[in-house]
Amino acid sequence: MSNESLANLLKEERRFAPPAALAASANVTAEAYEQAKADRLGFWAAQARRLSWEQEPTETLDWSRPPFARWFADGRLNVAYNCVDRHVENGLGDRVAIHFEGEPGDTRTITYAELQREVCKAANALTELGVEAGDRVAVYLPMIPEAVITMLACARIGAPHSVVFGGFSADALATRIQDADARVVITADGGYRRGKPSALKPAVDEALTRPGTENVRSVVVVRRTGQEPAAWTEGRDVWWHELTGRQPEQHTPRAFDAEHPLFILYTSGTTGKPKGILHTTGGYLTQVSYTHHAVFDLKPESDVFWCTADVGWVTGHSYIVYGPLSNGATEVLYEGTPDTPHRGRWWEIVHKYGVTVLYTAPTAIRAAMKWGDDIPAKHDLSSLRLLGSVGEPINPEAWIWYREHIGGGTTPVVDTWWQTETGSIMISPLPGVTTTKPGSAQRPLPGIAATVVDDEAREVPDGSGGYLVLTEPWPSMLRTIWGDDQRYIDTYWSRFEHRYFAGDGAKKDDDGDIWLLGRVDDVMLVSGHNISTTEVESALVAHPKVAEAAVVGATDPQTTQAICAFVILRGDAAEQGDETALAEELRAHVARQLGPIAKPKRILPVAELPKTRSGKIMRRLLRDVAENRTLGDVTTLTDSSVMDLIQAQLPQAP
Ligand code: WT7
Repeated sequence: MSNESLANLLKEERRFAPPAALAASANVTAEAYEQAKADRLGFWAAQARRLSWEQEPTETLDWSRPPFARWFADGRLNVAYNCVDRHVENGLGDRVAIHFEGEPGDTRTITYAELQREVCKAANALTELGVEAGDRVAVYLPMIPEAVITMLACARIGAPHSVVFGGFSADALATRIQDADARVVITADGGYRRGKPSALKPAVDEALTRPGTENVRSVVVVRRTGQEPAAWTEGRDVWWHELTGRQPEQHTPRAFDAEHPLFILYTSGTTGKPKGILHTTGGYLTQVSYTHHAVFDLKPESDVFWCTADVGWVTGHSYIVYGPLSNGATEVLYEGTPDTPHRGRWWEIVHKYGVTVLYTAPTAIRAAMKWGDDIPAKHDLSSLRLLGSVGEPINPEAWIWYREHIGGGTTPVVDTWWQTETGSIMISPLPGVTTTKPGSAQRPLPGIAATVVDDEAREVPDGSGGYLVLTEPWPSMLRTIWGDDQRYIDTYWSRFEHRYFAGDGAKKDDDGDIWLLGRVDDVMLVSGHNISTTEVESALVAHPKVAEAAVVGATDPQTTQAICAFVILRGDAAEQGDETALAEELRAHVARQLGPIAKPKRILPVAELPKTRSGKIMRRLLRDVAENRTLGDVTTLTDSSVMDLIQAQLPQAP
């Protein structure tokens, strides 16, 4: 990023100090940065003591064979014991662990004592099926309590789980079963999605016809929707309620080494086959537990935490299952979509359960903005005291809207940067310490070392941009790519020597705070200037007529790339209007905000944007459109008809 364009880009000047009351009783204060700086490994060794170990580790980090890290290697613990049993032993058995809200409105309240019984039964059930420590279990479930119970049961017996998002196809499921060589699949008849039951079991049946899945000997089926399974393979398929129903409610947890695998989670990325990201137990649980305590300031006796992610993503693993439960939190688990049966459903849930801390994604916030301020305004959201964001850069306008319309203008907003690979939050404000800046994740957490470097791996000065790198190993880091150590080295540790390359562009402002700019593949080169898609998108959505924007660089003979912006207009602007005049108005607006170099060459109003199931815009497909190419792979889109719609709407490109 050239400094000349940066000077134009760093314009966000709004600042929000932590509320005094929160700061006064915050779980973590500014001291933590000092302690961790003075003794990073000592700091993490102290955080490991948040957990109950059967054998306390004496060694913190073994980095003798980089980039293969071993954390707390001589410690032994059981992850499920830490998330469930120890709270019951501490007299908290009656505390609610999970307030489950099904999409059709059915509910279930699960205390820690009940969770313990359910996890024990499920652990005994897996053992009856012959699952042993080290065997992989594939999980293909909707957002129902059995998903959490299954993950904890796997952890309890040392069988790594591989959760596959319930919205994925039979193909995606088959690839993941093959790669992990799973022995058992846990699924359901179906789940509720947009007011209708949506079947899951048929996709499992189909996946298991593919070569490479022969080692799956059991399929356990939770009855959720009551849909009659079309096929039932005797000897392989078994109902969850029958299998767990006959199990004892006691199970003695066994301790495993801190480096025993906990789970594999596949990330798709843009090219190549999905990468099986491997996480282990001791270091992972230490950092998810600490970050959940520090970033969300969680007070387990009074807070009600709600992370809206799906357990099929890492956010669900770390901040629905392992972080909150290791901290003894009370949390909400919601099965469905935010707009079923109406667009106020989430806000209704916040009020109903008295949610105090909400953690969601910018895509959901922008959808709520588009639906209108009047919707959240109809609900009492005064229980909320802290808001979090994750998944992609949050535009300052969305950040401000979130704070104003969901947080009542008073709650801190923490923008948390991390990845499937990092396992837990890495860069984020601390709610009782940091004066926040809308759009910036700001500082590495205590004990985390991150910076921004240029092409030659030199750290850039404040006020400049480049690539985000992590400069020291961290406890919840991925240990490898399942079955492919070389790909682990090549993908993350080869671009810059001794540094983890995150694949994200970033800049440091004059205070040294970090602003994430999106994947490096999403940085455009226009007449010799690097311009981030995120910044142009932020400028566009700051215009009152624009609800959402996606920007790509299309090959251009004069300027290398030309900026092409796809915009969704807000209600009124979409109906009336002269498109040419509007495009001109938006181009002028971006030029004013960012400088003439960032002015989009083309502005294309569309009704929808192509998004992956985890809410990320697939710019690759928009680039195909902008460059008049045949579309690439659309199978990971939420709704592949969006692309037909976009193409039908467009004037033929020049
Ligand atoms: C990528 C990782 C971490 C859980 C969800 C996504 C982007 C994530 C932020 C943020 C800017 C962000 C990055 C990152 N990202 N959080 N706060 N600000 N960008 O996990 O699917 O592994 O994606 O998401 O590009 O590399 P993931």
